Amino acid sequence: MQEKIAIKVNHLSKNFDEQKAVDDVSFTVKQGEVFGLLGPNGAGKTTILRMITTLLKPTSGTITIFGHDIKKESALARSTFGLTGQYASVDEDISARENLMIFSRLNGLSKKSSQTRTNELLKEFSLEKSANKSLSTFSGGMRRRLDLAISLITRPALIFLDEPTTGLDPRTRNQMWDTIRKLVKQGSTIVLTTQYLDEADSLANRVAVIDHGKLIRIGTPAELKNETGESTMTLKISNQDDINQASQILKIELKSQPKIIDNTIVTKFKKTEQVTNGLSQLKNAKINISDLTVQEPSLDDVFMALTVGKIN
Ligand SMILES: Nc1ncnc2c1ncn2[C@@H]1O[C@H](COP(=O)(O)OP(=O)(O)OP(=O)(O)O)[C@@H](O)[C@H]1O
Ligand SMILES: [Mg+2]
Repeated sequence: MQEKIAIKVNHLSKNFDEQKAVDDVSFTVKQGEVFGLLGPNGAGKTTILRMITTLLKPTSGTITIFGHDIKKESALARSTFGLTGQYASVDEDISARENLMIFSRLNGLSKKSSQTRTNELLKEFSLEKSANKSLSTFSGGMRRRLDLAISLITRPALIFLDEPTTGLDPRTRNQMWDTIRKLVKQGSTIVLTTQYLDEADSLANRVAVIDHGKLIRIGTPAELKNETGESTMTLKISNQDDINQASQILKIELKSQPKIIDNTIVTKFKKTEQVTNGLSQLKNAKINISDLTVQEPSLDDVFMALTVGKIN
């Protein structure tokens, strides 16, 4: 199947006075994928999202959505997506049902269709029980679910989520992740911003790491981990007398300086095959191991490796 492009961002920049909030960022988002913009506070994630969704004018650069230039064909481009902002613009004093009805009508649905869609979304987002309560009584998680429900009224093919789980408790966060996965299964393309590495890791097919307005790296979570992160192997040697020989073997095979603590050796490594080679060399030397653990790098490690020392 040929991969279709949902979004193309080309040399995008945004200056606020003297500050370059977004600095020459380019990437493409494929149809059907979850694309994550990952970066710390103030990195420029929301600014990028606001430009793609036509809420903010770029200082320079171009953006196309499903082939439509957002500047020349803004209405057409806009009709393809739904947006859930970092801060919701719903009315606090009225109920979830009333908010959904209002936004459905604003999106051009008839009164009857608005009622049907409102009921569907209340059910989908488990908000039926609280549908008629005023939003001022809602928890943070309920509010986020309502925000998302509102952005899905028109069943958009492309969904933008700005920090969908910030401030949510772990259980509600998992619920939101499930909802996002369900949307992907139904064929939606999703662009989300997050400060959480585990969120990017578990949801996104590809991640763009943004720092100080610049795109530092782009890739699948696995690629990013492979490229910059190092795994750690910890093994216990049965016979203390073998420890120096074992350490020497691992140093050669895993291409890194092992640390020895009592009868335990800790070594960093980049490729799994280095571990297999190391273990078979230990076996050849008749060195027995009593315990072995391997720990993958986290995206946290990757992020540190990518951002440290790159700050202007
Ligand atoms: N309207 C604006 N006027 C002036 N400066 C702005 C404006 N919007 C954003 N900025 C600045 O641009 C930079 C990027 O902000 P942005 O909101 O895009 O970051 P972010 O990555 O979304 O951060 P967060 O994780 O905190 O949401 C920040 O330094 C911010 O202060
Ligand atoms: Mg933001």
